[in-house]
Amino acid sequence: MNWKHYFTTSVGRKLVMGFTGLFLVLFLLVHCYVNSMIFISRNAFNAAADFMGTTVAIRIMEIGLFAGIILHIIQGLMLARMNKAKRSVGYATNATNTKQVPWYSRSMTLLGTLVMLFLIMHISHFWIPSRITHDLNATKLPNGVETHDLFQKMLDVFQSPLVVILYLLGVASLAFHLFHGFFSACQTMGFTSHKYKNFLKGFGIVFTVIVCLLFAAMPISMYMGWVA
Ligand code: HEM
Repeated sequence: MNWKHYFTTSVGRKLVMGFTGLFLVLFLLVHCYVNSMIFISRNAFNAAADFMGTTVAIRIMEIGLFAGIILHIIQGLMLARMNKAKRSVGYATNATNTKQVPWYSRSMTLLGTLVMLFLIMHISHFWIPSRITHDLNATKLPNGVETHDLFQKMLDVFQSPLVVILYLLGVASLAFHLFHGFFSACQTMGFTSHKYKNFLKGFGIVFTVIVCLLFAAMPISMYMGWVA
């Protein structure tokens, strides 16, 4: 397959979706781990965020992250369009319309769009003030390093019940997107030989439940004042 086929054929697009999807899953794991420091202490979280924000290799990876997100979205929308065009001239009984396929597998475009809308709000809450406008309070870590008080920013953002609800809806959309997406990406990448199929299916579900419950606990804990 030549490189152009990754952007023009449905097999190529699926491969790009699978690769970028698994890369984004890896990001979610790191993001969830770093953010979980809020459950330890303000300093532990601010120190971890400072490390992520000042380490050159991580800043370079951030460019890859945004490129991955954009590629994943574009390829997903193009695939959805190709599938829709095919379906309108295809068989009357389409497998994706049967009841055996769960609703979330049939709603990947809608769920992905909800996650994208969540991301736009999320980036404007934290990433833009932290990386672009720098309008955050300063704080001193125990080792004397001065950094942004992102913990305080989170506390401020999650004082609004509406924002907390929007975050919970965003995380729920992500959970259902991943329930289908994780295994589907593994399948596209060819990791699901008979031996590992059930393991990867179970792993995807356990991973998604743990990561999304932790993400959901963050706005709730901040709003309820369980972390300070
Ligand atoms: C719901 C709980 C979440 C909280 C409290 C949270 C918090 C944060 C914070 C504080 C930042 C800024 C980091 C910095 O500038 O150093 C950030 C960045 C980011 N978050 Fe989240 N996040 C959450 C969930 C998510 C989810 C579910 C996704 C993906 C679907 C996500 C994607 C991102 C991205 C792409 C960035 C920018 C890249 C980066 O700074 O690493 N976040 N988040």
